Amino acid sequence: MADDLVARLDACTAVIRKKAPGFTPKLGIILGSGLGAFADSLERAVSIDYRELPDFPVSSVHGHAGRLVLGHRGEVPVVAMQGRVHFYEGYQPWQVAFPARVLGRLGIKHLTVTNAAGGINLGFKVGDLMAITDHLNLAGFNPLIGKNADELGPRFPDMSHAYDPASLEVLRGAAKAEGVQLREGVYASLSGPSYETPAEIRMLRTLGGDAVGMSTVPEVIVASHMGIKVTGISCITNLAAGIGKNALNHEEVSEVANRVTQTFQKLIGRFLADVATKF
Ligand code: HPA
Repeated sequence: MADDLVARLDACTAVIRKKAPGFTPKLGIILGSGLGAFADSLERAVSIDYRELPDFPVSSVHGHAGRLVLGHRGEVPVVAMQGRVHFYEGYQPWQVAFPARVLGRLGIKHLTVTNAAGGINLGFKVGDLMAITDHLNLAGFNPLIGKNADELGPRFPDMSHAYDPASLEVLRGAAKAEGVQLREGVYASLSGPSYETPAEIRMLRTLGGDAVGMSTVPEVIVASHMGIKVTGISCITNLAAGIGKNALNHEEVSEVANRVTQTFQKLIGRFLADVATKF
């Protein structure tokens, strides 16, 4: 972790506050590969290119825009990240997690994390949405390594309820109300950028993974560290390596995520409205 992390966070949040004066978001959402369209539905929105924000990492991955959007869903102030960076892009762990910390410093009480993921669970189909109940951090790093910033959170944060059970219940209710089938499972994170081998997928299944991806976990760890409640949703964009016959590729991942975007937005819209009443 950068020794001057808090100062860097303060500098970044100051720029955002200047561009959106008086705006205090209650909810945050990180939109993964192909899922960014939700941010366009925010009303009275201010959007800021990541390149305008000091220390904000910028993604080089196709399908990841780089914009922070501050706006409203009904009366609820929401900050959305359209695009994120990954460890495999060469950023330091603290940099990968920096945007989630900025959302925390802006005042969010709850963070929704979304991603595209490969389905490990043999009961899953391409296009399914999965509520993340827990994760396996197998990416080989932790964004909290380094000197702890005590004003942000404790040295050894509890991760027993990293995905807030009460918010998960709200998500289940939102899925039911919208008629969306919602799977549930454990998200296993690896660093990437190569996709997994079939042997690695068998290993992850043995370990209890239901879906696999290359993102999300750093943000969830720092949000937990800061005491922010988290809900996670994976879009199952492909069957993990060795399950289907097809080779994996990023175009397919983006294409499927774009295809389920309407269902995803319906679910997210209802969920954010419902979860906002709890915070
Ligand atoms: N593996 C890792 N990351 C992914 C996958 C996958 O199969 N699909 C989408 N992101």
